[in-house]
Amino acid sequence: MSIDISIAPSGPLRGELSVPGDKSISHRALICNALADGEAQITGLLDSADCRSTMSCLRQWGVEFEETSDRVVVRSPGQGRFRSAPSVLDCGNSGTSIRLLSGVAAGLPFRSQFDGDESLQQRPMRRVLEPLASMGANVDNSETAPFWIDGSAGLSRGFDGELAVASAQVKSCIVFAALRAEQPSRIVEPGPSRDHTERMLSAMGASIDVGGAMIAVQPGASLTPQDVDVPGDISAAAFWMVAAAMTQGSEIVMPNVGVNPRRTGVIDVLQSMGAQIELSNRRVMSGEPVADVIVRGGRLRGTTIDGDMIVRALDEIPVLAVAAAVAEGATEIRDAAELRVKESDRITTTSAMLTAMGVDVEQWSDGMRIVPGTLRGGEVDSFGDHRLAMAAAVAALSADPESGPTTIQRASAVEISYPAFWRDLDRLRHVDAV
Ligand code: S3P
Repeated sequence: MSIDISIAPSGPLRGELSVPGDKSISHRALICNALADGEAQITGLLDSADCRSTMSCLRQWGVEFEETSDRVVVRSPGQGRFRSAPSVLDCGNSGTSIRLLSGVAAGLPFRSQFDGDESLQQRPMRRVLEPLASMGANVDNSETAPFWIDGSAGLSRGFDGELAVASAQVKSCIVFAALRAEQPSRIVEPGPSRDHTERMLSAMGASIDVGGAMIAVQPGASLTPQDVDVPGDISAAAFWMVAAAMTQGSEIVMPNVGVNPRRTGVIDVLQSMGAQIELSNRRVMSGEPVADVIVRGGRLRGTTIDGDMIVRALDEIPVLAVAAAVAEGATEIRDAAELRVKESDRITTTSAMLTAMGVDVEQWSDGMRIVPGTLRGGEVDSFGDHRLAMAAAVAALSADPESGPTTIQRASAVEISYPAFWRDLDRLRHVDAV
């Protein structure tokens, strides 16, 4: 079902807000514990459509989940005792599910069939199928889902080489396969992609050595289930960071946000634009750095986002583009061709959203130039992309009050990563009235 939502321009946002659990860490807490034989408790797991896709695939392999109001218990027979899935592994909209579970499937002695929704069916899968084939898995020769992977001949070789793209999904896929290979693997990353898989598997007893851009995996270690307390998602917090940073008088406190250095590009970029963001109460939660994030409103200036910063702020580019739209001076985003193969082509869709709201955007093959202007309310499409829907909502808040509300089409896309987004937006807007 497709729901449109109208958002009126707003004054300052104020209040304290707990953002939902980190999506990347939630997927990994489910998958890594499924590989181990035994039981683990996950608290703070993100309850969203993407994580449900991972759970339903793992269930088909014989993993059980017991859900209560504050935790999910994972009970697994261990990867060695997975059974062949009775039907297609439907990963819905989730690139993380399909790519990470592909690596698991390569280590299973039967054929697994993968598929996903219309958006996922357009995303490139050779980037995982080729490395898995090089390790000895039998794989489909299609470019995209649906596809199958058959690990029944075993993985006679480790992976040894540099990845073509800086992608945590591809890296994690290979790491999961490498745990079941007959030889060690050596993976070199072209950029600093998120390292949650390496952190979690190491804590569970896997033999993984990370040295700079190189990850060495020794197969065969037995994994011990590990309870995980999932930190708040910095990619969800990013929407409120931008919304608060660009509105004078705003002040938002978000406790317990994950601040893994490979994910904090959004904070670095916003600070380089002049945003007032403070991190306090830094600590470590289940092997991941976390902090309380405080953001105050002010004026922003344009910037350049490129190189490794793109990898560290990848999912936040649409909302950073909204910040750029109201900054002083143009912003250039380069080296970001990967945005074209996300849940939507985010260079095209972000440009379309800003253009519909009256801001000039020049598109390049690997980025865009945003010339700030006055945002105006109107009709914008989320293109069914959760991060576009939320970025559009942030833009709508800052639209010229005279121009009226913004209607966001297919706004229910937020179910993918942040089902409580509209409720939280309401809370931050209305706190003054309480
Ligand atoms: C993710 C990695 C990133 C990111 C995605 C989640 C992950 O994708 O865009 O939202 O959890 O590993 P790529 O690794 O394909 O760049």
